[in-house]
Amino acid sequence: MGLERKLTNRSFLRALIKNRTWGYCSSSLGSERGFSALAAPELPAFDYEPKPYKGPLADEVFGKRKKYLGPSIFHYYQKPLNIVEGKMQYLFDENGRRYLDAFAGIVTVSCGHCHPDVLSAITEQSKLLQHATTIYLHHAIADFAEGLASKMPGNLKVVYFVNSGTEANELAMLMARLYSGNLGMIALRNAYHGGSSSTIGLTALNTWKYPIPQGEIHHVLNPNPYRGVFGSDAKLYAEDVQDHIEHGTSGRVAGFIAETIQGVGGAVELAPGYLKLVYDIVRKAGGVCIADEVQTGFGRTGSHYWGFETQEVIPDIVTMAKGIGNGLPLGAVVTTPEIASVLAQKIQFNTFGGNPVCSAGGLAVLRVLDKEKRQVHCAEVGSHMIERLTNLQHKHDIIGDVRGRGLMVGVELVTDRKQKTPAKAETAVLFESLRELGILVGKGGLHGNVFRIKPPMCFTKTDADFLVDALDYAISKL
Ligand SMILES: Cc1ncc(COP(=O)(O)O)c(C=O)c1O
Repeated sequence: MGLERKLTNRSFLRALIKNRTWGYCSSSLGSERGFSALAAPELPAFDYEPKPYKGPLADEVFGKRKKYLGPSIFHYYQKPLNIVEGKMQYLFDENGRRYLDAFAGIVTVSCGHCHPDVLSAITEQSKLLQHATTIYLHHAIADFAEGLASKMPGNLKVVYFVNSGTEANELAMLMARLYSGNLGMIALRNAYHGGSSSTIGLTALNTWKYPIPQGEIHHVLNPNPYRGVFGSDAKLYAEDVQDHIEHGTSGRVAGFIAETIQGVGGAVELAPGYLKLVYDIVRKAGGVCIADEVQTGFGRTGSHYWGFETQEVIPDIVTMAKGIGNGLPLGAVVTTPEIASVLAQKIQFNTFGGNPVCSAGGLAVLRVLDKEKRQVHCAEVGSHMIERLTNLQHKHDIIGDVRGRGLMVGVELVTDRKQKTPAKAETAVLFESLRELGILVGKGGLHGNVFRIKPPMCFTKTDADFLVDALDYAISKL
């Protein structure tokens, strides 16, 4: 997103956004239908009145942010939005304007903004006890760990709680190294695994990497079916991993980590069958296999509860965060008793990990997702949206690829379908147009040319139709 910031700051782009008189070459089918006839779609009805907002307005908040917060934080949109209230899949700004949230606080709000069951669990626990740490007993952490373990396959039954995805991946990497006795970690190009000194090493997008020592990390070819050198051929990508281990390491590695659909990298699914082949290779080289489920977990992919299940593998370690807490600062690492035991050699402690309030909220999230059958819902709404987006791809040449599963969807924009040239400026313009129409999506990929559609899991088919109609409308106005 550093790149997004650079892009939005470019003066030429501002001019383009202000005065969109430039043309984009749509397909002939599209021109025949006459885009100018399209009417701007309207937000679906939603029976909720936001509370009157009496707090500071955008300019004041922005000024204070600039003065007191680090310059590395960035914001979306030319004119940053002051979001003051949320309800399920909708957000409200300072003027009470409603937006369809198709990015869920960066793929974090799983049940829905301010879901009543989650709120109630958090507030009831807060009234009794907010914090004591694991030096005393408390049922919330144990109940939540039991709930999470019940969702895992195989022998993945031991949970460590942390506060974020970055921390979860730090801990997983530590366990992989201690357990295997090796140092080398293998990660995929285009991955995002966190922003701490160590996880920056695993992350493989230059926009997020500071030039610091990164330890022994090997980034292998990304099995990206759309852009990857071997297309969807998992076997060839797996052979590259084997080759890399043989030539670029001592022959022994600590582990392999991958997202099962790359999130920040632009909703990139791995070539089918890839993980199965690579897990085998990595285990033979002494390493453990880590699935980063920070974005893909908890049923979001629709077909499965965990993303790794789409590749028919059982990892040795699973890391999770974001959707696990519906907005609470919460992360977890789940592994086997054998691997978990390596941390018992020393004192391993996390002050807030498994805090009673976060644990009560996290357990409520698990229950809501089950009670409201969100996995099936994601499958139904997601496949409807992907089908509609694919039809839109037939209409507009700028849509190079539509991909994803459930409510984890990517739309990659290109100026030339053959060359797959990233449509950076066009994406930035459409991004602003969608906001004007009342939709907040995310952006991703190394070039910031992929729309990331990963809404709260209560997003409906009507919301999906509105989003697709709005995208159609916005592209037609380019
Ligand atoms: C796949 C993945 N792993 C890890 C992280 C890091 O999580 P956090 O920002 O909670 O530290 C992210 C964050 O976007 C992520 O998408």
